[in-house]
Amino acid sequence: MDEHNSAHTGAAEPRGTPLYAGKSKKVFAADDPDRVRVVFTDAVTAGDGAKREEFPGKGELAARTSALLFRALAAKGIRTHFLRELAPVEHLVRRVRIIPLEVVVRFLATGSLSRRLGIPEGQPLPFPLVELYYKSDELGDPLLTEDHVALLGLASPEVVRYLKDEARRAAEALREIFAAVDLVLVDVKFEFGETSDGEIVLADELSPDSMRIWTKEGERLDKDRFRRDLGDLLEGYAFVYRRLAERFPEFASP
Ligand code: C5P
Repeated sequence: MDEHNSAHTGAAEPRGTPLYAGKSKKVFAADDPDRVRVVFTDAVTAGDGAKREEFPGKGELAARTSALLFRALAAKGIRTHFLRELAPVEHLVRRVRIIPLEVVVRFLATGSLSRRLGIPEGQPLPFPLVELYYKSDELGDPLLTEDHVALLGLASPEVVRYLKDEARRAAEALREIFAAVDLVLVDVKFEFGETSDGEIVLADELSPDSMRIWTKEGERLDKDRFRRDLGDLLEGYAFVYRRLAERFPEFASP
């Protein structure tokens, strides 16, 4: 497979069978065995796939937003899997083994935190809350304690400490980036992966599919528009990307 081909043709997807097909992204082999190609699809799911819809153009907005934010985080010293864009919906990234933990950082209460603990929606938290969830569709991504992580052998205590510290650092950096465009980062989910030489890097995606972004007035611009029927999904995603690209042209797609 020629990894440059789709960039020239603008083809939506590289040829071949995906190495991995997730709910909203597909991963394909690249020429270099230490790299893979991530293709963002237009699918949007919620409730572990119970609710699913296609939004033509969503994949491109998520891919462009992710590329911009990965570049912005790299400039702040966060190590990520992102290398470059190959096409509007396609990233070339370092090949990693994804650690099966979803690391969520929250600044304001909403979503499952408000439901689980009864904290009012929109209440600022006294410190950034870091939570670990088991990345398992069959189990519905359950919340984990650190003892659960050890019990399941998902990561060593040292790695858990590193993931939590790095997630907090990345979330604080993203919060500053959004504050610079007058938007509020409410919470964000990170996934990390381990490279063949044992380096742990931020992986997956950074888009309104994986984080909550509000205007200062509390308007939802992220996937909650879909989860909770709060308005036009693409309009929210496009607004976020436009704001970021105008303010940070150095990190935007060419
Ligand atoms: O639903 P909950 O409040 O636990 O979500 C916390 C954050 O993690 C939100 O930004 C949500 O978009 C994200 N998330 C995700 N993938 C999941 C679960 C949550 O990206 N499977």
